[in-house]
Amino acid sequence: MDEFIAGLPKAELHLHIEGTLEPEMVFALAERNGVKLPYASVEALRRAYDFRDLQNFLDLYYQATQVLVTEQDFYGLARAYLARARDENIRHAEIFFDPQAHTRRGVSLGAVVEGLSAAMKDAAREGGPTSRLIMCFLRDLPAEDAMATLDAASHWLDRMSGVGLDSAEAGNPPGKFTEVFERARSLGLRAVAHAGEEGPSAYVAEALDRLQIERVDHGVHAIDDRALVARLAGERIPLTICPLSNIRLRVYPDMRAHPLKRLMDAGVVVTVNSDDPAYFGGYVNANYRVVQEAFALGRGELGQLAKNSFAASFLSEQGKPDRIAEIDAYVKTQQAA
Ligand code: ADE
Ligand code: ZN
Repeated sequence: MDEFIAGLPKAELHLHIEGTLEPEMVFALAERNGVKLPYASVEALRRAYDFRDLQNFLDLYYQATQVLVTEQDFYGLARAYLARARDENIRHAEIFFDPQAHTRRGVSLGAVVEGLSAAMKDAAREGGPTSRLIMCFLRDLPAEDAMATLDAASHWLDRMSGVGLDSAEAGNPPGKFTEVFERARSLGLRAVAHAGEEGPSAYVAEALDRLQIERVDHGVHAIDDRALVARLAGERIPLTICPLSNIRLRVYPDMRAHPLKRLMDAGVVVTVNSDDPAYFGGYVNANYRVVQEAFALGRGELGQLAKNSFAASFLSEQGKPDRIAEIDAYVKTQQAA
């Protein structure tokens, strides 16, 4: 089954580029940029990857992002992820970045966006994957900061497909960003948001109603509200689920307790993603593998998850049937093998 998963064509829709910063790269960039780290070695840093909860993870994640300083750093980060994604048969990636985590340290938005988008262009030219950029606002900062970030990004809007919302969820409900998302949508940007990761199912409904998002990032706590699950299924609102992340951040004690299969069975468009793979013990294929093992999924069900990833993507509607047909063909040949 591992080989089947490795060969399955797929899209990744929930990936924080800063979360692909591997410990070795943290140390290499710290040296290059003269940034002092409070860890003696790569191993000491890796040992710190034992998280109590989302906030505990975010503290380390923001600390590590400080080694990203130049346009070249962002280029290298995205190139490394896209090469890895290609090895995992990811054909398309929709990549989150956190501008405020960089601009608040004095790094220019231009360095971030130019570096990332140059890497994305080069990777696509060299055979893929294709990719899109989604600019996330930090929800634990004031809405005014998010609005100022959206204003500052006006010069680079052609590089972005959409906006998102991430960082510490509890106590920062989606409604806080209603005007920011309204403005972003009026500028032609698509909208997604993290909701129902550590926050309650009510935040998922609020993100749908007030931010008018097209996909929910995580959304696992929707399982606590039957009517909401029925709404997600009925309106075909996809969830970008990140299984290893949910275990590592102790949202669920283990995969058996995870609602992914129950959501699938309820007809929700579920996708499988890696979130912050350098921190959570695996990239996309590792996430498919833990789901397959926990729920004994067959090739058809794994194929469905991959088809969902293209259906839920921001690729053009005309382009989707071919991608989906490719998966059907792959599943068929593998079943015959
Ligand atoms: N930023 C990076 N990873 C995140 C996650 N899992 N939840 C919220 N914000 C994040
Ligand atoms: Zn995330």
